[in-house]
Amino acid sequence: MAHIIVVGNEKGGAGKSTVSMHVATALARMGHKVSALDLDLRQKTFGRYASNRKTFLDKAGLDLPSPRYHDLPDIDQSSLKPGENLYDRRLSAAVAQLEPDSDFIVIDCPGSHTRLSQVAHSLADTLITPLNDSFVDFDLLAHVDSDGKRIIGPSVYSEMVWNARQLRAQAGLKPIDWVVVRNRLGAQQMVNKQKMGTALETLARRIGFRTAPGFNERVIFRELFPRGLTLLDLKDVGVKQLNISNIAARQELRDLIKALNLPGVNADF
Ligand SMILES: Nc1ncnc2c1ncn2[C@@H]1O[C@H](COP(=O)(O)OP(=O)(O)O)[C@@H](O)[C@H]1O
Ligand SMILES: [Mg+2]
Repeated sequence: MAHIIVVGNEKGGAGKSTVSMHVATALARMGHKVSALDLDLRQKTFGRYASNRKTFLDKAGLDLPSPRYHDLPDIDQSSLKPGENLYDRRLSAAVAQLEPDSDFIVIDCPGSHTRLSQVAHSLADTLITPLNDSFVDFDLLAHVDSDGKRIIGPSVYSEMVWNARQLRAQAGLKPIDWVVVRNRLGAQQMVNKQKMGTALETLARRIGFRTAPGFNERVIFRELFPRGLTLLDLKDVGVKQLNISNIAARQELRDLIKALNLPGVNADF
């Protein structure tokens, strides 16, 4: 059975597609069979990232390990059972098709609440939620009082995850390992960083997620997309000397992969 990694957060710009591509490619580079699905049917950033990679590698005559990207299959409407949702069927057909030949299926979600995203969350063995270091983004996980310290209650997204967890429990599936990853951490703004850290740890205990080390704000993340590359590929495409920031970013990615604690993944790579 493939291990399903869902990358979700109802906020756009949190880093879902960036994290999806980096995690999927890192696992492929470690020798795992990785399939990729993009449920953001409108923006398709993950799909475009993967196809940019293919175009670039083909042009450069390189063969680097890559996640295998798949579009959701089209389903003949007439084959649906009465009351069956078309999107549910497209997603379950994709997963059923990919499972036998994948160690991991990485599913990137849209930055809004959709039926597809909701169903995907209930399929997640591991759920990664990238989160920008801002209380505006935190607000989708939980509401806090005015000093940012006391948690008043859960918000829409954590309630959605809670529902997905209930569904899995009812179906006898193992619980979701929910990992919140802080993204775009700044070198300044220490007070906000600390406040966010404290609020996240309090919330983690309350609604049942763990936090993993994330990525600092680094320009390299914005530059890799057109060539479909990740931080781990730079040496293989002829970059001789990585600068300090890129080395640090690569280490952040390795630390994240370790922290995800995925089945069959060697922690030292
Ligand atoms: N750690 C980071 N440092 C700098 N830019 C980042 C970082 N993570 C993501 N970005 C940039 O932020 C934007 C949103 O990221 P993206 O992965 O598309 O988010 P989402 O899929 O959640 O909408 C993109 O322009 C991306 O290149
Ligand atoms: Mg995206």
